Amino acid sequence: MSDKVYNTTSGNGRIAILAIESSCDETSAAVCVNGKILSNRIANQTVHEQFGGVVPELASRAHMQNIVPVVDAALRDAGVEAESLDAVAFTQAPGLIGSLLVGTQFAKSLSLALNKPLIAVHHMQAHVLANLIPERKPSFPFLCLTVSGGHTQIVRCDSPTQLKVIGETIDDAAGEAFDKTAKMLGLPYPGGPLIDKYAKEGNPKRFKFPEPQIPALNFSFSGLKTSILYFLKNAGTSNLYKEEFAADDETSRKFIDENLADICASVQERIISILLNKLKKAATETGITHICLAGGVSANSGLRKAFTETGEKEGWQTFIPAFEYCTDNAGMIAITGYYKFLEKDFTELSVSPSARAEW
Ligand code: KG4
Ligand code: ZN
Repeated sequence: MSDKVYNTTSGNGRIAILAIESSCDETSAAVCVNGKILSNRIANQTVHEQFGGVVPELASRAHMQNIVPVVDAALRDAGVEAESLDAVAFTQAPGLIGSLLVGTQFAKSLSLALNKPLIAVHHMQAHVLANLIPERKPSFPFLCLTVSGGHTQIVRCDSPTQLKVIGETIDDAAGEAFDKTAKMLGLPYPGGPLIDKYAKEGNPKRFKFPEPQIPALNFSFSGLKTSILYFLKNAGTSNLYKEEFAADDETSRKFIDENLADICASVQERIISILLNKLKKAATETGITHICLAGGVSANSGLRKAFTETGEKEGWQTFIPAFEYCTDNAGMIAITGYYKFLEKDFTELSVSPSARAEW
């Protein structure tokens, strides 16, 4: 915590925070006043599509181009002048280091120029706290299943600033399982939303993929990935490794083209059951009944539906942030910044971003 003396709040009980998110390939800025998000601008980077994944160097450059207009637009949308801000929050970790550096440097410079406190936010805490943005909020303690491109976690949340990871993936994240499956099917990056789209027309019971048996509340998706790879190489006849796969590339391609919707629906069904079975276990073990979803994969329509239905069966109160607060966005950084502001949890100007960070 910083012991620097700031020219702090306007003194009228109003707390206005500007937040910046730049951990991966979205440049985003948001303004939050007294815990309400007034603006949330997100600039997506399309430059990566042709490469089948995020290219870190290109992401940093795009952040540099986007950050000033995005921050300007967020302040304008909110009708808030930079001079009347009470703090600047930013994503400090985890993420791509070059991308994080752009947001961090910008936030530090603004904090210095305005002489207002700087708040370092952990991206994964922010995904969880996106659930505190809407009017209808979970009560503490609650559990949150955070599913993104880089993480899959079950988090126990006892207060906005007391969070504990009680289960997580031991290999791939759920978003990676979607994106890597999409790649094997020949779909462009990021493939998660496309699998979601094709799955809507498919039969989820048509193909069976194995559910891994992982201890405690942890997840694994790498076995599923391998099983899908063999399944495609065998053109759907088996998902086991064979010395000679049953199909050549052309037959495998034909099988995919003719069965795309059913493959997507069946894979999605298995990813969802892996996630929700562990979430049910976590709820039973902790006795907690307020349960949230978070992260980019919570935009998945099949997961949202299955989560809500599971909640009804299990007697949970379920919460899912609005779509714009599920994928990477600065609104979630702003709400986390707000709760950290209330605890005067400020950071020094010497702070550095970190690609990986425990929390
Ligand atoms: O949270 P996020 O925006 O970025 C990270 O912090 O990783 O999550 C991105 C991930 C990607 O893997 C993307 O494919 C996945 O979220 N995703 C989806 C959907 N929308 C985004 N996965 C499945 N269905 C979707 N509708
Ligand atoms: Zn994220």
